[in-house]
Amino acid sequence: MVKTNTSLRVGIVGLGRLGRRHAANIAQHIPGATLCRACSADEQDRHYACDILGVPDFDTDFDAVLNDRTLDAVVLATPTALHADQVIAVLQAGKHVFVEKPLALDMAACQRVLAVGRQHPEQVAMVGFVRRFDLSYQNAQRQLASGVLGRPFLVRSQTCDRNDPSGFFVDYAGQSGGIFMDCSVHDIDLARWLLGGPKATRAFATGTIAVHTGLQPYHDVDNGLAIVEFQDGSRAVFYASRTFAHGHETQTEVIATEGKLLVGHGAASDRVVVSDAYGVRYQSTADFYERFADAFLREMQHFVDACRGEHPVALTLDDASEATRIGLAITQSLSSGQPVDL
Ligand SMILES: NC(=O)c1ccc[n+]([C@@H]2O[C@H](COP(=O)([O-])OP(=O)(O)OC[C@H]3O[C@@H](n4cnc5c(N)ncnc54)[C@H](O)[C@@H]3O)[C@@H](O)[C@H]2O)c1
Repeated sequence: MVKTNTSLRVGIVGLGRLGRRHAANIAQHIPGATLCRACSADEQDRHYACDILGVPDFDTDFDAVLNDRTLDAVVLATPTALHADQVIAVLQAGKHVFVEKPLALDMAACQRVLAVGRQHPEQVAMVGFVRRFDLSYQNAQRQLASGVLGRPFLVRSQTCDRNDPSGFFVDYAGQSGGIFMDCSVHDIDLARWLLGGPKATRAFATGTIAVHTGLQPYHDVDNGLAIVEFQDGSRAVFYASRTFAHGHETQTEVIATEGKLLVGHGAASDRVVVSDAYGVRYQSTADFYERFADAFLREMQHFVDACRGEHPVALTLDDASEATRIGLAITQSLSSGQPVDL
């Protein structure tokens, strides 16, 4: 791709929980990009986009973004069920695309995106696996890839959210694809990345509803465990929870033949540990955004720089499709109670 000195003209679709973070990052913190148009199905988001962020154009209609010939790239932070069709539409409109994870909730949709991606090799298409842009995970990946710890063969990775008593996770269950597709998909992508991209062959999952009984009709759980086997003999264990009392805990341990490493220990929000008459304690991280605020910025900077021809994109649509394939097998095993061959 040819390098360009002009600012990338970006449109964003979706201004919810995550879209607002991406919009604010692009509008205020990403050199080389200008947020020119915002779109949300909710007209009330106009105030946020135009008055707070100063975005010149706002629409409730996705087609307005597609038809804006001045846009170079589109960021999609819409509900997961819309991702595949919207990615395809953006690529066919001749623009680069960033889409939040997961790429899709079924393999047929992933295949459709991959086929259109292959027809547009000059356009960047990137899926938001934000942890690949976290400095600690990058350090871990570099060390493992260098071989200093021998051959990595076991990953234990967890994504555990603080309990939300408002029932948010129950309301969200209808569109999230379930706890494994929503949360563990990050750990699945990490495991493949940290283990050097082995092929998954079998998955098993179990789980329980510890708090949110409203999840039952969705066949979802609020605490889930999964084991994935890979062709090269390596293994991964994933744990996802929606019910931690103290805060958000993302933690990943990788065991190798000559050592092991751990990314994120507990939920400490900083390095301050207070010891007094009541014991020893630290402040905990509130949520995923607080934990990965810096990585979200670095992720968007990577996308923008890739679109401007600075470097190839680090994450392929094939990676994202593989994460969905494994996530689906795990989800299927949760509902059947049986191991699933991949
Ligand atoms: N990377 C991460 O760690 C992370 C964390 C949370 C969510 N996500 C992902 O982000 C995506 C969005 O999640 P969220 O929690 O921000 O959702 P949300 O419900 O808070 O926001 C969705 C937004 O999309 C808009 N929208 C819906 N349909 C639309 C349409 N047809 N056209 C235009 N706008 C439309 C809504 O108006 C809303 O602004 C999901 O795919 C989710 O998996 C990723």
